[in-house]
Amino acid sequence: MKIAMIGAGYVGLVSGACFADFGHTVCCVDNDPAKIEALEQGRIPIFEPGLNTLVADNVRQNRLTFTTDLTSAVAAADTVFIAVGTPSRRGDGFADLSYVYAAARDIAAALTGYTVVVTKSTVPVGTGDEVERIIREARPDADFAVVSNPEFLREGAAIGDFKRPDRIVIGADDARAANVMNEVYRPLYLNQAPILVTGRRTAELTKYAANAFLATKITFINEIADLCEQVGANVQEVARGIGLDNRIGSKFLHAGPGYGGSCFPKDTLALVKTAQDCGTPIRLVEAVVAVNDQRKRAMARKIVTACGGSVRGKTIALLGLTFKPNTDDMRDAPSLSIVAGLQDAGARIRAHDPEGMEGAKHLMPDIAYADDPYSCAEGADALVIVTEWNAFRALDWALLADSMAVRVVVDLRNVYRGEDVARHGFHYVGIGVPT
Ligand code: NAD
Ligand code: UGA
Repeated sequence: MKIAMIGAGYVGLVSGACFADFGHTVCCVDNDPAKIEALEQGRIPIFEPGLNTLVADNVRQNRLTFTTDLTSAVAAADTVFIAVGTPSRRGDGFADLSYVYAAARDIAAALTGYTVVVTKSTVPVGTGDEVERIIREARPDADFAVVSNPEFLREGAAIGDFKRPDRIVIGADDARAANVMNEVYRPLYLNQAPILVTGRRTAELTKYAANAFLATKITFINEIADLCEQVGANVQEVARGIGLDNRIGSKFLHAGPGYGGSCFPKDTLALVKTAQDCGTPIRLVEAVVAVNDQRKRAMARKIVTACGGSVRGKTIALLGLTFKPNTDDMRDAPSLSIVAGLQDAGARIRAHDPEGMEGAKHLMPDIAYADDPYSCAEGADALVIVTEWNAFRALDWALLADSMAVRVVVDLRNVYRGEDVARHGFHYVGIGVPT
């Protein structure tokens, strides 16, 4: 099949490269010329494990190309995916659909022959209807269908998630379009991925419901962690104790500094807004949004407390800036709130991240950056693990003990067992675990 992928970001580039790897012919379109130029020169604009090789292999096989010319890519395609951003709209938190609608207008002008237009971007219920209206109005003559096919991949594990998904959701209101989508996903039959064909609106809502549920699960365990700290219990063991119950499941029960990233924060907000607009507020998710926001700010206070009540004039070393490991994505990372809170309290910040420092420098130009964990910690008054990168899982505590000014460790991801670190003379503070 010939596929045009509009938007070559975290989702579009991974999906495009995976579809090409499954044998389809894919053209990734982006209106950012710098991104396309980089891709054409073999440089991958984002960090995602395995993507470099996957893209290079498929470019070599002539199955994957890149362009800024949407018109020719769409004209040649049987299926056009919209994978552009849907960030929070300033002011009310609803999804900003301007990129999706702009893409729909451009696609409309370029359609030739029967084409299935697929929204892969995360979009509120009813967006498919509006995309269809935009295209129909611009091109009353066009032969097309609009389908919803939300994406469930995670950054850092994107290729595996795309190739071996727990399920594929296709929201198609007509059989012809559903058949085309079945062809698109046929290569995944071998992996036995269940394909759920639903109505378009149901597919759109399923995506938000999934993200909101996962965000709720994280927020639940985070609040249990707070309670653990008060009563001397261990949240890691509570999580295991409840997670072994199949009805609950063990995933997404890892307590931390609050969920971040380009999806959960904006998608929970957008769901809250949709529900309010429909007169059926989802109070549970409203609470999740509020609790998570407060939590990110509370993490700076936790660090201040661990430092004896003041960080004024002190140097705090942060390990990990991205919202999770194995990505360079800094969007809505908890580190941003933590740094702001510590700076307000008078601290100097020195940070290290294996892949996120370039992005972080644009967002936080006024902090110092170090090339590795040890130079980051040198002379510092506290070391804070913000993101659980593998590179931080086997730190040399004896070395750190000698080089830091004060031996304080705040482990916001419970990477270590307190006693292992305390053995080197550190005051260790984790999340929801006894100190
Ligand atoms: P992104 O910002 O990384 O990529 C979007 C790309 O679209 C950018 O490169 C931008 O230049 C391009 N673009 C915007 N308008 C365009 C147009 N009119 N024509 C061509 N290109 C255009 O965003 P992302 O993280 O890939 O997310 C895309 C969508 O997928 C969002 O709705 C997001 O919620 C959803 N999603 C993201 C993830 C994730 O892990 N990032 C996972 C599942 C779903
Ligand atoms: C999330 C979903 O997991 C994907 O299924 C979805 O496709 C994607 O959002 C999206 O819609 O864009 P992602 O944001 O890439 O994926 O990463 P996650 O692994 O879900 O982590 C999100 C945040 O939750 C991170 O800040 C992470 O540290 C935090 N988290 C996750 C926890 O604090 N505890 C956990 O147990 C799991």
